[in-house]
Amino acid sequence: MTFFTTEIRRDPLALPPLDKVPEHVAIIMDGNGRWARHRGLPRSAGHRQGTENLRRIIRAAAEFGVRIVTIYAFSTENWARPRREVMLLMRILEMVIDRELQELDEEGVQIRHIGELDGIEERLARKVIEACEFTRDNQRLILNVAFNYGGRDEIVHAVQNIVRDGIAAEAITEATINNYMYTSDLPDPDLIIRTSGESRLSNFLIWQGAYSEIYTTETYWPDFGRSAFYEALVEYGNRRRRFGKTDDQINGEQMKATRVKERTI
Ligand code: FPP
Repeated sequence: MTFFTTEIRRDPLALPPLDKVPEHVAIIMDGNGRWARHRGLPRSAGHRQGTENLRRIIRAAAEFGVRIVTIYAFSTENWARPRREVMLLMRILEMVIDRELQELDEEGVQIRHIGELDGIEERLARKVIEACEFTRDNQRLILNVAFNYGGRDEIVHAVQNIVRDGIAAEAITEATINNYMYTSDLPDPDLIIRTSGESRLSNFLIWQGAYSEIYTTETYWPDFGRSAFYEALVEYGNRRRRFGKTDDQINGEQMKATRVKERTI
């Protein structure tokens, strides 16, 4: 009998180790509404499933060794959605904090917020600040929640603060601007994932994403689970990042690094 092959006995959750893991993955969690529509469900059901999936992906990211995950949960443009949906997204964030904070903390997740808290109702803004405070010493995974976030808005605020601080025009470099970004102490995202078949940044990390690898998939966010995430990381591992240089330069740098490593062993 060949029914019980090794294929069946093998741990279904085991995935081969990744050669190269991105340190920082940013995600545009798109397609909740379409996921729901295709099932004849209200959009709220899509957001609820999307929230469930977020749990899976945070866990998977920690498992695969990703150090920072930035999620686009509510953009400055999302205020234009129907009021009921805006309220729902606010409630979801509040619910995630109320119900998941303890477990996220136990799993070593440090929660951060990027975006503006101005304009968000006071009770929720307070909870966001408290969640960040509560988890500030955790080191396993940084979860950056972009909520009421816009990339252009972030740049505008950076410029305003640079001017406020009286920094001379000639003294402004890329590093100066970087220092005024919400993510000033974090590396830029190595990989930006967007689900649901769209291929736009939609005002997400437009400064930080200048050299990010972009991965898009037709899969709607609620269905983009652990193995889909793994696949995205595998594809990232196969990409060659040149940062404006030529292939020959990159090959030379890699050979040099290997020689240095060999000499130090
Ligand atoms: C895009 O799908 C999704 C959003 C605007 C919200 C993402 C929110 C979650 C996944 C829930 C977790 C949220 C928090 C606050 C932690 P869409 O509604 O634009 O889908 P569509 O393009 O198919 O309509």
